[in-house]
Amino acid sequence: MQQSNLTLQKSRFGHTSRRDLWWVQPFLVFLALSSFIVYATWAAFQGEYYAYGSYLSPFYSPELFGDSPHSWFGPKPGWWPGFLPFSPALLILWAPGGMRFTCYYYRGAYYKAFWADPPSCAVGEPRKKYWGENSLPLIMQNIHRYFLYLAVLFVIVLYYDAWKALWFTDATTGEQSFGLGVGSLVLLTNATLLGGYTFGCHSMRHLIGGFKDRLSGKPVQQKAYNCVTCLNKKHNRWAWFSLFGVAFADFYVRMCAMGIWTDWRIF
Ligand code: FES
Repeated sequence: MQQSNLTLQKSRFGHTSRRDLWWVQPFLVFLALSSFIVYATWAAFQGEYYAYGSYLSPFYSPELFGDSPHSWFGPKPGWWPGFLPFSPALLILWAPGGMRFTCYYYRGAYYKAFWADPPSCAVGEPRKKYWGENSLPLIMQNIHRYFLYLAVLFVIVLYYDAWKALWFTDATTGEQSFGLGVGSLVLLTNATLLGGYTFGCHSMRHLIGGFKDRLSGKPVQQKAYNCVTCLNKKHNRWAWFSLFGVAFADFYVRMCAMGIWTDWRIF
């Protein structure tokens, strides 16, 4: 009888025997992810104020085509359809965006926060059938490992950006000199947070050694596997810190480029 009451409660949306504030976490996830999506979309469509001296916003890196000195292949390509707005970020953001969207951690978080599937553990769902990820459209989440390969390339590029952010051009002589600005630290921190998130990925752990039954006798692989496992244990924290970090890095460069903030030179 007790069991059937519990089953009945769980089958009605939002009903639960839980007494804790189970809804707080999904609510905060909803707020944080929604805020990020709104800001990132707005920033990606701006197409300006994304570079300041040697600094380049991570939302626009690599800048394949664009008007800043960081552009790899020159200005906006002639083949870009005239009816589409152009912004260098639109050419590349699908890759890190796809990585986050298909991330195992975020899936668990936004399934709860955005479509209540389930709202939380032992809380009634709005639907009776288990959707699973073994049919369309959610089976597409399995593409995650391919986004990981791209994300590794992005981390390399972002570290290169952080290296470039250590070089400053003298306004009068035009000479470059090594230095450290607050923006250099912001971009370096951003690359490190994204590196910690990317290299702690579940797919990376499988790739490095998770597919094997035994790693003994392979000390280098074992060491690499242990490093990835260490990052993987806190993957959710890396996910959030890197999310805030990348948004703040864009915001910082934007504020400097707009002349609202001053980039303080440490040396
Ligand atoms: Fe989160 Fe791969 S599982 S990035």
